[in-house]
Amino acid sequence: MTAAQFVGVSQVFGDFTAVDAIDLSIPEGKLTTLLGPSGCGKTTSLRMLAGYLAPTSGQILISGRDATRTPPEKRNLGMVFQSYALFPHMSVAENVAYGLKVRRVGGAERKRRVMESLELVGLAHLADSKPKKLSGGQQQRVALARAITIGPELLLLDEPLSNLDARLRIQMRAEIRRIQAETQLSVVLVTHDQDEALEMSDEMVLMKDGRIQQHGSPHEVFPAPANRFVAEFLGYENFLHDGGGRLLTIRPEHVGLTADAEAAGAGAPSAGVQIAGTVRDVAYRGVDVLVSVEGDDPAGDRVAVTADLRAGSAPDLSPGDPVRVHLPESQLVEIDSDAA
Ligand SMILES: Nc1ncnc2c1ncn2[C@@H]1O[C@H](COP(=O)(O)OP(=O)(O)OP(=O)(O)O)[C@@H](O)[C@H]1O
Ligand SMILES: [Mg+2]
Repeated sequence: MTAAQFVGVSQVFGDFTAVDAIDLSIPEGKLTTLLGPSGCGKTTSLRMLAGYLAPTSGQILISGRDATRTPPEKRNLGMVFQSYALFPHMSVAENVAYGLKVRRVGGAERKRRVMESLELVGLAHLADSKPKKLSGGQQQRVALARAITIGPELLLLDEPLSNLDARLRIQMRAEIRRIQAETQLSVVLVTHDQDEALEMSDEMVLMKDGRIQQHGSPHEVFPAPANRFVAEFLGYENFLHDGGGRLLTIRPEHVGLTADAEAAGAGAPSAGVQIAGTVRDVAYRGVDVLVSVEGDDPAGDRVAVTADLRAGSAPDLSPGDPVRVHLPESQLVEIDSDAA
């Protein structure tokens, strides 16, 4: 079952196409992320789904029904934005109750649902506090409870963690996962952080310039990026051509490296690509060492290859040293040269 669907949806501002004829199904009961660089059309897509922005063309279906012209308040969606804007003069419980009040859910039922949502986000004990007494993470949980308490068909989260400090952000990733799993809500989360998307998504949708580049589970997308844009966005830094005109990529962690004298030695992996080259830069990072090497790929083009080696087992190298990089066959990924 699909919770929502974009059918050929575009958004054009003047002569600028922010979202370009996207087709996308959001599955029911799962967490789907829209991932991509700044300006790629994530928020615009979410605003169209929420009903704050009418598509220039195309259709939006929610639970199988055409909702293209349905106003936001009739879509029964919960939303949390980057700036979660709680009402400062209301208590936590009153903030969470707000959506229910608007929907004329009264008395005991309202109280029960507010407490249920606050328990879900672990804040029942702060029901009577004012928002300004809460930490950023707690405020974000209140915003989540407020969005969830109405029993939305879809929960839309636009960079909900970006105002939190790094540690809290990582805690809240797991927290949102847990809440999604417990409620079985259909969630669409917008982020430009690939780690966040990889960790949180059932499905991830990569966008660039208003178009979808790839869509699949993290297990599908990460090891098999569809094109160079997706590969680069997910941290594949090395690109080379084989002798047959194929474009290959490999992650720095999968690149092996030996000092040149050892090149013919035992233990060097034979299947794959080997490039003889010269060390250009060595960056020590504590746990690991980044070594960038310049050499010729099998097609004869000059390429830079970065190897990310464990600090303990990396050879002692300096710029100018001759080395050989080993790109094991099993880790080389063939990709399309250009993004769609
Ligand atoms: N109301 C508007 N009028 C004109 N251009 C707009 C409008 N809203 C968005 N845009 C443009 O559309 C493009 C997509 O914007 P959008 O906010 O969807 O990006 P985003 O992927 O959410 O980026 P970010 O990660 O920075 O939030 C941007 O180039 C933006 O400048
Ligand atoms: Mg945005």
